[in-house]
Amino acid sequence: MTTPQLAPGDALFLREALELALRGHGLVSPNPLVGAVLVNGDQVVGRGFHTWAGVKHAEILALEEAGGDARGSTLYINLEPCSHDGRTGPCARALIEAGVRRVVCAIEDPNPLVAGRGLRLLREAGVEVQIGGVLAAEADKLNESFVHAMRTGRPLVTLKAALTLDGKISAPDDNRGWITSEQARAHVQQLRHSSDAILTGIGTVLADDCLLTDRTGLPRSRPLLRIVADSQLRIPPGSKMAVSCRADVLVATTSAASPERRAALERQGARIEVFDGSGGRVDLRSLLDWLHREQYRSLILEAGSKLNWAALEAGIVDKVFLYYGAKILGGMQSLPMAGGAGRRRRADAIRVHHLTLHSVAQDLGDLRAGSRVNLERPLAANGRLSGHIVQGHVDGTGEFLALEPLGLDNWWLKIRAPGDLDRYLVFKGSIAIDGISLTIASLEAGVLGVTIIPHTIENTSLGSHRPGDRLNLECDILAKHVEKLLGRLDVKPELTVDKLREAGF
Ligand SMILES: NC(=O)c1ccc[n+]([C@@H]2O[C@H](COP(=O)([O-])OP(=O)(O)OC[C@H]3O[C@@H](n4cnc5c(N)ncnc54)[C@H](OP(=O)(O)O)[C@@H]3O)[C@@H](O)[C@H]2O)c1
Ligand SMILES: [Zn+2]
Repeated sequence: MTTPQLAPGDALFLREALELALRGHGLVSPNPLVGAVLVNGDQVVGRGFHTWAGVKHAEILALEEAGGDARGSTLYINLEPCSHDGRTGPCARALIEAGVRRVVCAIEDPNPLVAGRGLRLLREAGVEVQIGGVLAAEADKLNESFVHAMRTGRPLVTLKAALTLDGKISAPDDNRGWITSEQARAHVQQLRHSSDAILTGIGTVLADDCLLTDRTGLPRSRPLLRIVADSQLRIPPGSKMAVSCRADVLVATTSAASPERRAALERQGARIEVFDGSGGRVDLRSLLDWLHREQYRSLILEAGSKLNWAALEAGIVDKVFLYYGAKILGGMQSLPMAGGAGRRRRADAIRVHHLTLHSVAQDLGDLRAGSRVNLERPLAANGRLSGHIVQGHVDGTGEFLALEPLGLDNWWLKIRAPGDLDRYLVFKGSIAIDGISLTIASLEAGVLGVTIIPHTIENTSLGSHRPGDRLNLECDILAKHVEKLLGRLDVKPELTVDKLREAGF
């Protein structure tokens, strides 16, 4: 399929849809993240994002907000609207009925139940459809595990390990203390939060008595499924995993396990499934098939040497996340990240493609020669007006509080706004931060939050701040016009919220 060039305004609204989709992070699985923005004559008339518990699809929420203004509008959405009757009716049909004129979407839905049918329905009804463009790759990445699961019929498997520089995961005598930093461990928690399931081997449970929970404290659409590969059901009934299980522990075993142990674990609330594999071990591919049937889209593997190798050898690992601590353990008895038989010849080594390196601790300094600054082209007099109106007139400075990871690649930027700007800030309204036009995604007690996708981090200076830094804020010019107008009206004393509502505001 050709990748059409989107107009600059289209890309802006589509980016807003992607940012909106992120608001559902952790709240959508087994569904994909979807954000929708409806625009009529350069005005945003409706927005929506999907959550599993909220049931309604993003485009339906946007249609509801837009009401009659949906007629003749353009829908910007990261994923093709659906065409099938799931828990809700087909969205494509609802868009047609509401009179939406044009749909701009970043990618086709890889779900075999949709796969282009939603777009076809729209086209057949005379709706103009545009797909692809600059944000297609990013939209794929936004729903990486969903897209992977739909295309391959298996969950996305990510092997995570904390290593010394010489590739060791465990010391022979005493494993208290940590290999990596607190920031790296916080990142691992995000990794768990972004995953539907987590898998370890019984070797790790016996050595570490691990819990494997998602401790971010963030809400999720369903509990993280904690899985132990344990062929003989050696897991101790008193282990933290067994004691803490609340229908969120699966012990993957073989038919060689004792029925008594099985019954005892089931009484504790664990789910036991048999996946007989070669050598009397758990068959990892059958486990993945089971997970797919149960609609788990992603699995993180946090295991020891043996299971890590078994997974790599079976070819089921899609990604590896290796967190290095600047230490060297040495020794022939320290465990390597992947043990087992390994490959006997250099030429047979398992290859890792698309390598990226990140420094987990952020240590970027203040503005100096060579620092990145944000530049934006001015609006041409004959250009189409779209997105937020940012003039570059700073209204005040806010304090950078945090840039918290939202999933693996996205961010949640929090800024304390000065009190005198508060009256211009509204939830879902516009704000320019260091000249970058963004949408206010949360607003509480003077702290505003915006969601940031990798495109924005990579192409602006927003990623290079530290707590306490000052950022330039510019509020929406419309709010200032409205304020001035209201100030001039003699009817001001009578102008109440109720009156405005009556007048249709
Ligand atoms: N630094 C890190 O990131 C990290 C992470 C996790 C663990 N660790 C360390 O790793 C050490 C444990 O390593 P480990 O190799 O003994 O444990 P492991 O890999 O977690 O578990 C291995 C066990 O899993 C069971 N298993 C079930 N199905 C399997 C299959 N298909 N293939 C392979 N094994 C299967 C086997 O026991 P059965 O035959 O009884 O089923 C096997 O002995 C601990 O010291 C722990 O601290 C470090
Ligand atoms: Zn839908």
